[in-house]
Amino acid sequence: MEARGLTRRFGPKTAVDGLDLEIEPGVIYGFLGPNGCGKTTAMRMLTGLLTPSEGSARVLGVELPGRAEPLKRKIGYMTQSFSHYRDLTVAENMGFTASVYGLRGRKARARIGELTEEYDLAGLAAQMAGSLSGGQKQRLALALAVMHRPRLLFLDEPTSAVDPESRRGFWEKLFDLVAEGASIVVSTHFMDEAERCHRLAILDRGRKRADGTPQELMDALGVTVLEVEGTDLRAARRRLDGAAGILSAAQIGARLRVLVEGDVPEPEARLREAAGLGDGAAIARTRPNLEDVFVSATREQAA
Ligand SMILES: Nc1ncnc2c1ncn2[C@@H]1O[C@H](COP(=O)(O)OP(=O)(O)OP(=O)(O)O)[C@@H](O)[C@H]1O
Ligand SMILES: [Mg+2]
Repeated sequence: MEARGLTRRFGPKTAVDGLDLEIEPGVIYGFLGPNGCGKTTAMRMLTGLLTPSEGSARVLGVELPGRAEPLKRKIGYMTQSFSHYRDLTVAENMGFTASVYGLRGRKARARIGELTEEYDLAGLAAQMAGSLSGGQKQRLALALAVMHRPRLLFLDEPTSAVDPESRRGFWEKLFDLVAEGASIVVSTHFMDEAERCHRLAILDRGRKRADGTPQELMDALGVTVLEVEGTDLRAARRRLDGAAGILSAAQIGARLRVLVEGDVPEPEARLREAAGLGDGAAIARTRPNLEDVFVSATREQAA
């Protein structure tokens, strides 16, 4: 998949702004970004459901904007909110989706049987989809999205209602799908999910701020990450608001995690002075994580 200058405006608002992407087959590619940054809008354009205002994309050989019909059989799309029939049972939803993709009779029953087992839906077959728990709904939605064995799968915040254990299980399924030859585009704002992606694009206010593997993004981060232990961290935290050279400060348990701009020559001294830290406060350097990358990518532009 390739996108060049993909842009979508809604009235005066630009939801996606000049997005360039290149996504190789066989990877899980993440869109990481805050609420309203354009993840859903970008996905809707890449699935052919929404016409771009400007720019173009080529998805599995199909040129967009253009006739998106051939794309529909090759992709699966799990929307952000549950979009299947709430007043049909799990089994009825599966039968309906199978028929939409042209599966009938023995073939349909075989595929539904496979998915029922794979996605642990056997005990829920007779239950109304609308009454499933959040995590169960997401298992059903994923099973329905892969009914026709799509080569490319779009998942829009697929695990927002899922506990950490189920989320791990869900991601195991995604890696199984990739091992079987699928490619996946997934949006998220969970850092643990972002870290599982092969590659990521960080989006903010419709623009791509950075992309690469999680490791590349962390290595390329041009900031020093410091952690402070001491007393009265709340006051120190307040003093750091808007302080020169300080990109962000956030309390994590008993420590204050501070991002200092990379061109500050003595970051520890700068922090000590800006936060008004006493001698009792200990400062240690630490390795950047993906949340630091995210904060840094979205803050720099705001500044
Ligand atoms: N149909 C629409 N009409 C008007 N504005 C829209 C429409 N769809 C999206 N927007 C606006 O475009 C921006 C991007 O929205 P989008 O849903 O793509 O964000 P998102 O990254 O998916 O957010 P979230 O994490 O909350 O799901 C938002 O400001 C939103 O209000
Ligand atoms: Mg969204």
